[in-house]
Amino acid sequence: MNWTGKRVVVLGGTSGIGLACARQAAEAGAEVWSGGRSAERRQQAASSLGDLGQRIHWVEADVQDPEGLAKLCAEAAPIDALILAATGTERAVGPFMKMPMEGFQRSFGKLWGYANGVQAGVPHLREDGAIVLVGGAVARKCPPGMIAISSVGNAVEGFCRALAAEIAPRRVNVVAPGLINTGMFDTVSAEQRQVMFDQAAGNILLGRVGEPSEVAAMILAVAGNHYMTGTTVDVEGGSLIP
Ligand SMILES: NC(=O)c1ccc[n+]([C@@H]2O[C@H](COP(=O)([O-])OP(=O)(O)OC[C@H]3O[C@@H](n4cnc5c(N)ncnc54)[C@H](OP(=O)(O)O)[C@@H]3O)[C@@H](O)[C@H]2O)c1
Repeated sequence: MNWTGKRVVVLGGTSGIGLACARQAAEAGAEVWSGGRSAERRQQAASSLGDLGQRIHWVEADVQDPEGLAKLCAEAAPIDALILAATGTERAVGPFMKMPMEGFQRSFGKLWGYANGVQAGVPHLREDGAIVLVGGAVARKCPPGMIAISSVGNAVEGFCRALAAEIAPRRVNVVAPGLINTGMFDTVSAEQRQVMFDQAAGNILLGRVGEPSEVAAMILAVAGNHYMTGTTVDVEGGSLIP
């Protein structure tokens, strides 16, 4: 799709999937606002894109700050595509029966962040504009220890279906990635990451983890498709196939 002259806002746009969206949208000609909390991450993201990075508005954004989001969306208006890709919170990992309830509840910060983004963005979204929520294929196939993340993924998909009816003709869809090599795994060493990815690859039909660019391409395709709303599209290498 030609995004020339279109206005795209990416929340969680300074790393991983969101950064790949910002890059691809800018490459396709869009004016892009790409936000995250950390100034250092914004700067690294800008320099990682070279000259293209200079064309993107790198903005401070916290999806848990509704007033800041409202200001940002007003600045970027009228918005053609709003991409919500912020992890938004820490996530609880482990079996539910041993999980502190506080950790389980805190994991839903991703949904609250998306909800804030929607309330801030919809008033500034064009009538033929679209929202894409980055969900997770783990919603529909939950490996051991991922129950909090799976529950949040299901909540995001349900939220999308209910919201679609409310905001039509504006569109909203979910793109649900499988395991993708992003900054989400920066907390583990390169060796640990490789071991983890090699193990996971055995459960993925295509035999490898995905790249952020592969998810971003689908996000932009879904945002640009004017006959899709309320749906979830998986980009997961066949990991949902038993
Ligand atoms: N990677 C995977 O395997 C995978 C699988 C399924 C689903 N997902 C989903 O994909 C989305 C993107 O994740 P990723 O893997 O690309 O992670 P990532 O590389 O860690 O990027 C996360 C981005 O979100 C931003 N962010 C986090 N909390 C934020 C907040 N409160 N407000 C605004 N921005 C915030 C981060 O910047 P700051 O920290 O500077 O704010 C960063 O730009 C997430 O929703 C994640 O749940 C990822």
